[in-house]
Amino acid sequence: MPIPFLNLKKINQNLNSELQGAFLKFLDSGQYILGSEVADFETNFANYCESNYCVGLANGLDALILGLQSLDLPTNSEILVPANTYYASILSILKAGYKPVLVEPNIETYNIDSSKIESHITNNTSAILAVNLYGKMCDFEALNRICKDHDLKLIVDAAQSHGGIYDGSKKCIGADVTAYSFYPSKNLGALSDGGAIVTDDAQIYNKIKSLRNYGSSIKYQFEYQGINSRLSEVQASFLKLKLRYLDEELLKRRQIARIYLTEIKNKLISLPSKTSIDTDAWHLFVIRTSYRERLIKHLTEKEIGFEIHYPTPPHKQKALKDFNYLSLPITEKIHDEVLSIPLNSTLTNSELAYIIDTINSFRI
Ligand SMILES: Cc1ncc(COP(=O)(O)O)c(C=O)c1O
Repeated sequence: MPIPFLNLKKINQNLNSELQGAFLKFLDSGQYILGSEVADFETNFANYCESNYCVGLANGLDALILGLQSLDLPTNSEILVPANTYYASILSILKAGYKPVLVEPNIETYNIDSSKIESHITNNTSAILAVNLYGKMCDFEALNRICKDHDLKLIVDAAQSHGGIYDGSKKCIGADVTAYSFYPSKNLGALSDGGAIVTDDAQIYNKIKSLRNYGSSIKYQFEYQGINSRLSEVQASFLKLKLRYLDEELLKRRQIARIYLTEIKNKLISLPSKTSIDTDAWHLFVIRTSYRERLIKHLTEKEIGFEIHYPTPPHKQKALKDFNYLSLPITEKIHDEVLSIPLNSTLTNSELAYIIDTINSFRI
């Protein structure tokens, strides 16, 4: 029974006629840049995230960069960021002109270890960029306390956690800006690139709205050196439609995560944290094993798709030469051992049972 890691065509086919209808409406509108679809989606997504404002952007990396730039941090700012994250989180800090300071994650949650943050704080530290990696919500209570005690801003990379809940709310509590990606494979995915910033602050909102449009809020008047990072009008119309189904999608993801967490039983495999099954966004189901190569062989023989998020830690990437000297044992261990198994709403009960049986029968 071949099971792909993710079949985007199948996922979007479920909404075939509605997506076609949205496209025809867009085509007919004659409004192809920053029209009513972007405006509507921004209102709906801000409401969904229980936040005051949303600005649609071209992708998640821009959302992080513009989010950082909107905060007017001092030029020599150091930004604390988890060492265990997708490269974009760290790249965004460099692109915004600041210095990333890498903090080890907690081995259970894979997210920034809040007990290790304060030892990295210097006079130049201006902000924490936290990441809800794999859809697991960060410890916002601890992050808010640290930000308050040290007068730091909080940026959240929520590219993998649309719909995640913390303390009863879909808002990343205490965040000055929260950045989302709508890359097609995300829990809320467009049919191309897309991104957004969500914030409660009117000044930040207005600045990011200007920055995404060359730094202009009045036609041909430029108040900042911005970029062109406008969310596509047609993608906004698809996202507006798909947003209506996001809670249903999350429900299925949480059900699958619960089944995996209950039924995968193999001493060679470590499962992700069981805390907050019903509130995390479960973008990925990431297991760990010190026998990854052998597990890959086993899954391949059984035709089960998988991915590795991620094979090389950011601080060991060629592009981040200045960080290559760092030794971050927890981050490195995670990168050596993780493997993501299929987790999406198209999985059938028999496919799930087959995946579970295959993992349970893995031996070395
Ligand atoms: C954690 C994280 N941050 C940032 C990004 C960047 O998003 P995008 O690919 O839309 O630029 C991604 C997307 O892959 C991500 O997973």
